[in-house]
Amino acid sequence: FRVLKWTWRLTYLSLLGGIGYAGWLIYEDRHPVEQIEADPTKKTLVILGTGWGSVSLLKKLDTENYNVIVISPRNYFLFTPLLPSCTTGTIEHRSIMEPIRSILRQKKARAKFYEAEATSIDPERKVIKVSDISEVRGDTLETEVAYDMLVIGVGAENSTFGIPGVKEHSCFLKEIGDAQQIRKRIMDCVETATFKDQSPEEIERLLHMVVVGGGPTGVEFAAELQDFFEQDIKKLIPELADRFRVTLIEALPNVLPSFSKHLIEYTESTFKEEKIDIKTKTMVKKVTNKTVEAEATRPDGKKETVVMPYGLLVWATGNAVRGIVKDLIAKIPAQKDSRRGLAVNEYLVVQGARDIWAVGDCAVAGYAPTAQVASQEGSFLARLFNNMAKTEQIEDNIRELSSSLNVKPGNSAEVTRQIEEYERQLRRIKDIKPFHYSHQGSLAYIGSEKAVADISWFNGNFASGGGLTFLFWRSAYLSMCFSTRNRLLVINDWLKSKVFGRDVSRE
Ligand code: FAD
Ligand code: NAI
Repeated sequence: FRVLKWTWRLTYLSLLGGIGYAGWLIYEDRHPVEQIEADPTKKTLVILGTGWGSVSLLKKLDTENYNVIVISPRNYFLFTPLLPSCTTGTIEHRSIMEPIRSILRQKKARAKFYEAEATSIDPERKVIKVSDISEVRGDTLETEVAYDMLVIGVGAENSTFGIPGVKEHSCFLKEIGDAQQIRKRIMDCVETATFKDQSPEEIERLLHMVVVGGGPTGVEFAAELQDFFEQDIKKLIPELADRFRVTLIEALPNVLPSFSKHLIEYTESTFKEEKIDIKTKTMVKKVTNKTVEAEATRPDGKKETVVMPYGLLVWATGNAVRGIVKDLIAKIPAQKDSRRGLAVNEYLVVQGARDIWAVGDCAVAGYAPTAQVASQEGSFLARLFNNMAKTEQIEDNIRELSSSLNVKPGNSAEVTRQIEEYERQLRRIKDIKPFHYSHQGSLAYIGSEKAVADISWFNGNFASGGGLTFLFWRSAYLSMCFSTRNRLLVINDWLKSKVFGRDVSRE
C-alpha cells in the first residue's frame, strides 16, 4: 500500500512538473526578450531554405555574429516525419508547421526573412537571384541578394524518372499542399464511388488506391490510408467494406530496403494481415489519368505488363535534384561528376566553391537523405560558424593587444599573459573536428498501431516491431517536434482522432 501511495505521489508530482515546465516554455515563447538589431557591417550569411538542415543551423547559430538573411518560398518549418498522418486527418497539418517568424524571434539578434525562391546562384559575384511570386501584387518580383557566406539547404524535389504521365496525374507527398490534396482526393474517390448508377468497374477503379514506391514514405502512407479506411470510412459507409483496396508497388524484391531483413518480413506480413496488397518486382512504366501500367517480373523470371485502374495514385519514389542546385553544379568545374546533389567536403563546404556550404538532401556527403542527417549537418554548421566568429573576435583582440604592447611597453607582462590566454582559447576553438554523422536509428509506422524500429545500440543494432514499438515511435517523434506548441497540438490531434474518429468532410 505504501509503495502504491508513493508511486501515485511521484506520478502526480512528475505530471505537475511536466505541466509547469510546458507552461514555462509557452510563457517564454510568448514573451521573448528584446532583440539586438542586425548589424549590416558584419558578414552577410544567407541561408536558403527553411527545412531540417537550415532550421537546425538557425536554432544553434549565434545570430549576433552575422548579418543573417533567410530565403525560402515556405515561411515555416515542416516536421516531415508526421506528414503521412496529415493525409488522412490523424494529424491536422498546422500541428506540424512552425512559423519561421517564431523561430527567428527567439534569436538574440534579428535576422531577415524573405519569402521567395532562389532561382540561381552566381558564385563568382557572390550574389543570389531571388524571385517572389506574390498573389497580392499579382506579379513576380525578381531581385538579387549579395552574400559573404552562403548555406544551401533547399532539399530535393520528387523524382519521376521522366516516366510519362507521372507529373500530370499523380499526387506526391513532400509538402503540406501535397497532404491536403491527397486528403481531398481520398474523400472525392469515396463520395464519387457511392454516387448512384455507376458501373461496378468504375466503383472498383475509384476505390483502388495505388501507392508507387516501397520506401518509408510509400509504406507509411499506405499504412495510414488503410487505417483510415478500417477505423473510420468503413464504419461510416459500410457498403464500401469489401471494395476499398490499397496496392503498394515496388520495383525491388522487397519494401523498406534500408531496414533489416527481419523488419522487412514483419512489415510485409503485417501488410498482408491489413489487406494491403504489395506488388514487388513491379516497375511502373507509364501513368494515364485512370491507369498505371507496370512491368512485373513473375516468379519464373518472365516479364509481363500489368495495367491497374486507380482512383488515387500517390507517387513516392524518392528524391531528384532541384533546378537551382543543377544550375550551380553546372557553374562549378569541380562538381562536373555530381549527379545526386552538391558534393561537399568533411566540413560541408561545396567542393570547388568559395564560402558556400550545403546541408541536407541537396548535399552529397555520403549519407542517406534523411531529416536526421540534415539536422545534424545544420547543427554542425552552427558550431562551425559560431567558432569562426569567436576566432575572428579573438584574433582582433590579439592584434589590438600586440599593438598596445608596442605603444605602452611598461605594461608588457600583463599584456603578454592576456595574449597567451587568447592564443590558448584560439587553439581550442580552431580545433573543430570534421562533420561526423551519428545514426540514431530508423523508424516507420506500418499501420494497425504497429511500427518498426532499427535502433543503433552502442556498437550494435536493435530491431523491433509491433505495438510497443508504435508507442516508442509516437514518443520519439513527439519529443522531436519543433516546439511545445507543436507537441501539444499533435497530442490533441491523436486524442481527437482516437475519440471522435478522423474528420471525413472534404474541404
Ligand atoms: P527540406 O526539409 O525539404 O527543406 C528544404 C527547404 O528549402 C524548404 O523550406 C523549401 O521550401 C526550401 N526551398 C526549396 N527550393 C528553394 C529555393 N529555390 N530557394 C530557397 N529555398 C528553397 N527523414 C527522417 O530522418 N525520418 C523520418 O521519419 C522522415 N520522414 C519523412 C516523411 C516524408 C513524407 C518525407 C517526404 C520525408 C521524410 N524524411 C524523414 C526525410 C526528410 O524529410 C528529409 O531528408 C529532410 O526534410 C531533408 O531536409 P532538408 O533541409 O535538406 O530539406
Ligand atoms: P526511397 O528512395 O527511400 O524509396 C523509393 C522506392 O521507390 C525505392 O524502393 C525504389 O525502388 C522505388 N521505385 C522507384 N521507381 C519505381 C518505379 N518506377 N516503380 C516502382 N517502384 C519504384 O524514397 P522515400 O520513401 O520517398 O524516402 C526518401 C528519403 O526520406 C529516404 O532517405 C528515406 O529514408 C527518408 N524517409 C524516412 C522516413 C522514416 O525514417 N520513417 C519516412 C519517409 C522518408
